[in-house]
Amino acid sequence: MQTITSSQEAIELENKYGAHNYHPLPVVLSKGEGVFLWDVEGKKYYDFLSAYSAVNQGHCHPRILEALIAQASQLTLTSRAFHNDVLGPFEKYLTEYFGFDQVLPMNTGAEGVETAIKIARKWGYEKKGVAENQAKIIVAEGNFHGRTTTIISFSNDPVARENFGPYTKGFIKVPYDDVEALKSALSDPDVVGFLVEPIQGEAGVYVPHEGYLAAAKAACEEKSVLFIADEIQTGIARTGKLLAVDHENVKPDMLILGKAISGGFYPVSAVLTSTYIMSVIKPGQHGSTFGGNPLGTKVAMAALEVVKDEKLAENAEKLGVVFRDRMQRLVEKSELVKLVRGKGLLNAVVINDSEDSSTAWDICVALKNNGLLAKPTHGNIIRFAPPLVMTEEQVHECCDIIEKTILDFKK
Ligand SMILES: Cc1ncc(COP(=O)(O)O)c(C=O)c1O
Repeated sequence: MQTITSSQEAIELENKYGAHNYHPLPVVLSKGEGVFLWDVEGKKYYDFLSAYSAVNQGHCHPRILEALIAQASQLTLTSRAFHNDVLGPFEKYLTEYFGFDQVLPMNTGAEGVETAIKIARKWGYEKKGVAENQAKIIVAEGNFHGRTTTIISFSNDPVARENFGPYTKGFIKVPYDDVEALKSALSDPDVVGFLVEPIQGEAGVYVPHEGYLAAAKAACEEKSVLFIADEIQTGIARTGKLLAVDHENVKPDMLILGKAISGGFYPVSAVLTSTYIMSVIKPGQHGSTFGGNPLGTKVAMAALEVVKDEKLAENAEKLGVVFRDRMQRLVEKSELVKLVRGKGLLNAVVINDSEDSSTAWDICVALKNNGLLAKPTHGNIIRFAPPLVMTEEQVHECCDIIEKTILDFKK
């Protein structure tokens, strides 16, 4: 393998030999520890993206690393053709941790969403009595649930959809944060589920009005429709509670987790639900070679222990208030930033420029030069989501960097 000696060299290799399916900031990282990242040239950065909220526990957390190494030298993969001695304990641990009866483990977030869609449809036919091939799932406009052909079929984003058709049928889109629109869509008796992000992360960190999730859950219950929470980005302490639905004391019928469930070490996702709902899945009907493997499940248990032991939800809640307060003061000081919004340590700053301008990108490049890594989401919105192991002093230091960058920024 070619040894990388400069960022430029690494970027050139990616450009030449890799698909151009991402548009990364021009920084080449080679080391991570806690809230910090280092590039190939040895420059140190604060991470303010956390791999899209997958590294809530901080980079290379020693306890998760220890679990990974111990299990990797014991047993990594059996497939589900045989039992292994980690899966059962993991399933018990995870279901008790989140308060559900049963779990179906997969690998990526998109697979978790696909799994939930399949379970909801099958439940609809076998338990709710929907006629064959008629099941519908309600989704929200502006959603982001992953990249499979079915999932992009119900996306609004033309970039994600264009020229990937034909699209999967059976989805109804309603405006986000609009209970009346949801209720009206729920009047269709073929609806089996409502799939929703408790905060729309990828769309630009849209926090719904207080009461929306609880009202949506109640409306679903009334029509025997499954409330399916995609907490792949918002879950695992990110928003200041273990789950974002906890802010409204809502218990979803199905919960989808991914990303930080394994602290950035290994792809693990999971769908949790009741035995009644999960029982529609029988041998051979769903699965994955790697889903529920000993290595991933051991890593996930260690990652979840860290979340509890280090009180990451409480830290996210406390530091989120500090961050938004500092950003609000910046909004009042600078014409360039319009508003800040978010919950816990999932926040966004909206830049005061047209949606198609490059200002948010240019600010992120300037932030990088000043030692902080963040990335625009859609339009002119910058998402700020640091690892949850940050200290208050570090948040202030980061806010100083952001403030200086914005105040010095020239278009
Ligand atoms: C809410 C949500 N759902 C699903 C996904 C897809 O997860 P993955 O990229 O692991 O497939 C993401 C990824 O950003 C997400 O934010």
